[in-house]
Amino acid sequence: MSISVGIDKIGFYTPGLYLDMAELATARGEDPNKYLIGIGQSRQAVIPPTQDTVTMAANAARQILTPAFKADIAMVLFGTESGIDNSKATAVYLAHLLGLSSQTRAIELKQACYGATAGLQLAADYVRVHPAAKVLVIGADVARYGLRTAGEVTQGGGAVAMIVAANPQILALESESAYHTEDVMDFWRPTYRTEALVDGKYSTNVYLDFFKTVWHDYQQQTHRTIADFDAFVFHLPFTKMGRKGLRQILPEAQPEQQETLKAAFEASQEDNRNVGNLYTGSLYLSFLSLLRHGQLAVGNRIGFFSYGSGAEGEFFSGRIQPDFRKGFDDAALTRLLAQRQRVSVAEYETIYRSQLSDDGRDTQLAIGEETASYYLAGRQNQQRQYRQR
Ligand code: CAA
Repeated sequence: MSISVGIDKIGFYTPGLYLDMAELATARGEDPNKYLIGIGQSRQAVIPPTQDTVTMAANAARQILTPAFKADIAMVLFGTESGIDNSKATAVYLAHLLGLSSQTRAIELKQACYGATAGLQLAADYVRVHPAAKVLVIGADVARYGLRTAGEVTQGGGAVAMIVAANPQILALESESAYHTEDVMDFWRPTYRTEALVDGKYSTNVYLDFFKTVWHDYQQQTHRTIADFDAFVFHLPFTKMGRKGLRQILPEAQPEQQETLKAAFEASQEDNRNVGNLYTGSLYLSFLSLLRHGQLAVGNRIGFFSYGSGAEGEFFSGRIQPDFRKGFDDAALTRLLAQRQRVSVAEYETIYRSQLSDDGRDTQLAIGEETASYYLAGRQNQQRQYRQR
């Protein structure tokens, strides 16, 4: 009999600042309902210079790591498309900050917003072969398009940290999955740029096409239909995108099940609506949002659609486990989101422009406002200076 492998714990971190989307709309001369309803975003995480992908990942991972867990971690798989070095992996910095054993593999994975899914699937395959091992999988990014661009309303940032293990508390992954890769120029970021280049409308069409393709392949492979699912979660660059994805397949469901799936979608978009795009972490924040706000029961089957521009899509599934509520700290996540401070559009623009420069010079960042456990203090001799309080 094959062992059950999947997501045992999930942690999440986003910095303590946010921008109100109605205010941004007004400042950009748009109707607020375009952002609130048309795009489906209410708030957007604002990332101060003292947080980067490494520190956000460390702040997410610390929520789920006990000393016993740390000792069992065999591998760190860090999915990101906003890494800080073209050579050294963010996972190595992270393993050091978290105090993991040196007998750990630590690797960074890149394929746009798909990186964390690659990590999850590789981790699951590893644990199937080494059932005593635990793997730390990260999806952490800063979603950055540029001031006054069409993509500005779909920015955001944060990190999701997951422990993949045998006999998981939250979700047992099913081994079947359908994936699809094509060389598509819908969204990319050449190494000389800090902001992504994007063909926005085209990217939304490719997303929907890829979803159709992998959903169809998955059904052929498994002989399951929509009737076998209790919820679908989507990569959410903005919440309307997932809503459009769900609408594509809803007619396959009976009217009563359509209502169940729609209610589950509302729960799964709640936290993303208030954080914005996390790129690699977005699908998993959406899953966490479903766990937190949805009406789930043990054994429910959840469908996951992962999409990374460029492009790669995957559809896979998993079943909710009896102890799923023990796998995340609901109260801490509620606090984290509720305690954020609102910044004005002018303040957001200042913060946007004050990211660590790309000229390599020594810099000391103002850390007065920073309250996170792990933060970036600056750069010295071309090296980022990470601190823990
Ligand atoms: N009230 C209500 N709705 C309104 C409205 C109003 N007053 N005004 C406009 N809307 C609606 C529009 O009808 C439209 O809805 P539909 O898409 O349902 O037709 C929606 O608001 C958006 O309006 P526009 O299409 O005019 O918006 P836009 O041209 O300014 O840009 C965007 C939208 C292309 C998504 C842009 O934000 C963008 O480029 N974002 C970044 C790219 C992106 O996220 N792509 C997603 C797929 S790629 C991916 O998933 C990977 C990733 O993470 C990047």
